[in-house]
Amino acid sequence: MDDAKRHAGEWSARYVQNGMVVGLGTGSTVFYAIQKIGELIKQGLTIRAVASSERSEKLAREMNIPIVPFTSIDSIDLYIDGADEADRQGHLIKGGGGAHTREKILAYNSKKFIVIVDSSKLVEHLGKFPLPVEILPFAAELTLKHLKALGCEPRLRRNGDQQYISENGNFTADCQFKTIEDPVHLDAAIRSIPGVVATGLFANTMVTIVIAGYADGTVKEI
Ligand code: 5RP
Repeated sequence: MDDAKRHAGEWSARYVQNGMVVGLGTGSTVFYAIQKIGELIKQGLTIRAVASSERSEKLAREMNIPIVPFTSIDSIDLYIDGADEADRQGHLIKGGGGAHTREKILAYNSKKFIVIVDSSKLVEHLGKFPLPVEILPFAAELTLKHLKALGCEPRLRRNGDQQYISENGNFTADCQFKTIEDPVHLDAAIRSIPGVVATGLFANTMVTIVIAGYADGTVKEI
């Protein structure tokens, strides 16, 4: 699927215009978008960028993309990021890379949010991919109990033999639901549990377009 990711990632760079504040997401698909934007910078494009993770910030700096502090911006013109699943209505599951809390902040503060995926991420119903939920380490077992009561099997993410710790210093619970019929309702229910920081459910109201790349080089805008 690497070619498909590259096609989607590179395609998204055509939406980047001079003078924009661009938000850079996290993951293997955004990697290609960042590389393409780096090429455009070499050709004279001038933008300012903010990143959703230390990984993406490092990559952007390597590509000479000017990263600016959040204190210097008021909003983001265009946010480009991947997803783990996108349904027909444009609702998303994100957070496979563990960066969804920061990604949600960027998406919420962006005028346009372009989602880039390989075609395997397009699904009828969300939920085959376990839903990432960032939770506070404090009393995590109690938070997990309430997540379970919503009908999922939550598992604390591991990083080898260690607990996975997000860039915000929190745990991530990967919640396996049978299927997610109503993402907006489920998102609200999960967020009402004290101890939950953010879910990986992104409602379609945040999304401008989904760009799906295919291995044969074609790209669809949905
Ligand atoms: C990171 C994310 C990523 O956008 C998502 O996991 C997709 O990653 P990739 O492009 O590597 O498949 O939400 O938190």
